[in-house]
Amino acid sequence: MARTALYAGSFDPITNGHLNIIERASRMFDSLTVGVIDNASKKPLFSLEERCAIVRKVTEHLPNVKVDTFRGLLADYVNEHEFQAVIRGLRATSDFEYEIQMAQMNARLYKHGTETVFLMTDPRYSFISSSLIKEVVSFGGEVTGLLPEYADECVRKKMNDNNR
Ligand code: COA
Repeated sequence: MARTALYAGSFDPITNGHLNIIERASRMFDSLTVGVIDNASKKPLFSLEERCAIVRKVTEHLPNVKVDTFRGLLADYVNEHEFQAVIRGLRATSDFEYEIQMAQMNARLYKHGTETVFLMTDPRYSFISSSLIKEVVSFGGEVTGLLPEYADECVRKKMNDNNR
């Protein structure tokens, strides 16, 4: 039976921290779906379609990685696709409390014994978040190496367009 996993998030935009998790998880599973969430409670810089297009572009070197979108409960999406694992990246101990709550709530909702699998974020990226990158770029700061080059170009272009 093929081992399938989901890595879900907003990816507004995808960072090298996310990409590192995706690359490592793609080696652990036969198929990895990156699920981009259509999250009405966040005001994203990029539309859902733009976030997906960026994720697709920067993961095109990974043949077993697919990109999809979902809305609503993560567990419903997981149950529908019968993923065996949901991948989460842990950057710092501060992530742990939120993550354990989410994993335990989701475990109650999963119908096919899906496991949450935590990967420790590479220390090079443990301080990164998408918001922090956007804030630094918005003030003209340097973020080279913190997000894929293509994503970096897209953030700069989007911010320029928004400022016109
Ligand atoms: N490297 C870099 N940044 C990372 C990272 C990593 N390895 N892991 C997380 N982050 C950052 C993201 O960049 C993001 O930063 P931002 O807040 O500055 O934008 C932040 O962590 C949060 O990530 P995000 O993807 O926005 O959301 P989330 O991690 O909180 O959760 C879902 C995403 C989809 C799993 C969650 O929102 C969800 O399950 N939603 C569906 C609703 C649901 O089922 N709710 C009940 C849950 S029990």
